Amino acid sequence: MKPQKRDAEAATGPEGRVQFFDTTLRDGEQAAGVNLNVDEKLQIARQLAKMNMDVIEAGFPAASPGDFNCVQAIAREIQTSTVCGLARTLEGDIRAAAQALAPAENPRIHVFIATSPIHMEFKLKMTPEEVLGQARAGVLLARSLAPEVEFSAEDASRSDPEFLIRVFRTAAEAGATILNIPDTVGYALPEEFHDFCKRIIEGVGAPPGVVYSVHAHNDLGLAVANSLAAVRAGVRQVEGTINGMGERGGNSALEEVAMAIRTRRDLFGLDFRLDTRRLYPVSRLVSRLSGVVVPPNKAVVGANAFAHEAGIHQHGVLAKRETYEIMRAEDVGSTPAVMVLGKHSGRHAFRDRLEHLGYNLPDAEVTRAFESFKRLCDEKKDATDGDIEAIISDEILSVQPEYRYEFRSYSMHVGSEGTTCTVVLSLDGRELTDAATGHGPVEAAYAAIKRIVRVHPRLENFRIAATSERSNALGEAQVTLAQDGIRAQGHGASTDIIKASIRAYVNAVNRLYSTAAVRKVNLTVPAGVGPALDRGRPEGEGAAAR
Ligand code: KIV
Ligand code: ZN
Repeated sequence: MKPQKRDAEAATGPEGRVQFFDTTLRDGEQAAGVNLNVDEKLQIARQLAKMNMDVIEAGFPAASPGDFNCVQAIAREIQTSTVCGLARTLEGDIRAAAQALAPAENPRIHVFIATSPIHMEFKLKMTPEEVLGQARAGVLLARSLAPEVEFSAEDASRSDPEFLIRVFRTAAEAGATILNIPDTVGYALPEEFHDFCKRIIEGVGAPPGVVYSVHAHNDLGLAVANSLAAVRAGVRQVEGTINGMGERGGNSALEEVAMAIRTRRDLFGLDFRLDTRRLYPVSRLVSRLSGVVVPPNKAVVGANAFAHEAGIHQHGVLAKRETYEIMRAEDVGSTPAVMVLGKHSGRHAFRDRLEHLGYNLPDAEVTRAFESFKRLCDEKKDATDGDIEAIISDEILSVQPEYRYEFRSYSMHVGSEGTTCTVVLSLDGRELTDAATGHGPVEAAYAAIKRIVRVHPRLENFRIAATSERSNALGEAQVTLAQDGIRAQGHGASTDIIKASIRAYVNAVNRLYSTAAVRKVNLTVPAGVGPALDRGRPEGEGAAAR
């Protein structure tokens, strides 16, 4: 592992500064239905680094080879943020984290063990003394392998404060310099949590170089409030995710915590390194790649966060913005008016817009996206941010080298006995055609695709939305498919919503096959259909090669 480059103050932060610890790629990715691949995680990590995120928790290396690879890839590339890997207090976990983090400029191993009576008795089946011993051993080992160690007491908010103080003192003595207080199940209330954190911080004291941290979950919708209460009590690292993405009710939304500390500087008196102008683009990127939609009324990054509908409000804002706005859209990287690029826009403006939206693509991909953008402008004159993101997600990010079924065309026949759809896909240059009937066009199209691609996944989610509020908006479809324990999301965009729906389904099928290949899972082929893979590739048996 390389030595840490940053000086002690940069690592721990001065008293007057809050550090942000992003766990979108670890805790956030644990959200139901979310499954990000290495490329997608790298794209998000790059944007987090660009916005000066202090710490990026890249994954849990011992959890799976995929997680290990993601942490390693991010550790190799990201140099300006600390890259962190999670580990239980077990030797195997800690060694896996150290190995995955080995290429990092600024690595941190994040060791955790539960300290609440319910977790110790029923989950760990350990006595408090055993937990204490394991916390010490875990931190000592991690500290022997990494220059920086964070220790988390899982379910801290439901732990006995006196025991927690002992555990934290032990972890600090063993070499942990970040002591994290998680509200793992989102149980705490803000005032209570403030007092709890204060009691812990005062009880443990101030071992040299130690920074206290908070990690709040949102089961009662209080994660941000609890994080802010903890900051008021003296913690100086806030953990959370972009858009609050995470298991159950999610994690603390970092964009909200950051903007609350910035907007109420009068109360907090604290600074941070985060470039808040990158919050909106990174929120869009995470939403797009994870498939988790940001509600329009979501604070800070929702589509309506800066929209004024009521006449009185509009009048007030025009007279003096601060009458109804406590933050400026520009300060979170959002634009109050919809930015539109049109057929006369050049490649340079297009690339600028892509970068603003968080996509740093190689030249060849920019060129490919620009060509699609121009084709779209021929169809509909101009393109909004939503349209551009849809092109990127549909045509660039969804490209997978393996198992690449490509959509070619479809035709639809609507008759009294139902709707029949004929779909043409290609695989390795071979065209595959099949037809099926259904109650409606999408059902018929999906039945035809299943006949071609040979897998029969369950459709868990299907959504179609316009990329803007104009009548010529692109339709953007998102589907989630599940089969044999694998979930895969797909996106598709087109001015024709049937085409968008087909593209999304085919994209998800490609991802299903890719994930199955990585995880070495044989996808079940329905009875009556021959073997699914022909020299490692799915083949469209039952489909007529044209
Ligand atoms: O919620 C939690 O307690 C966690 C820990 C691993 C920090 O995610
Ligand atoms: Zn958590």
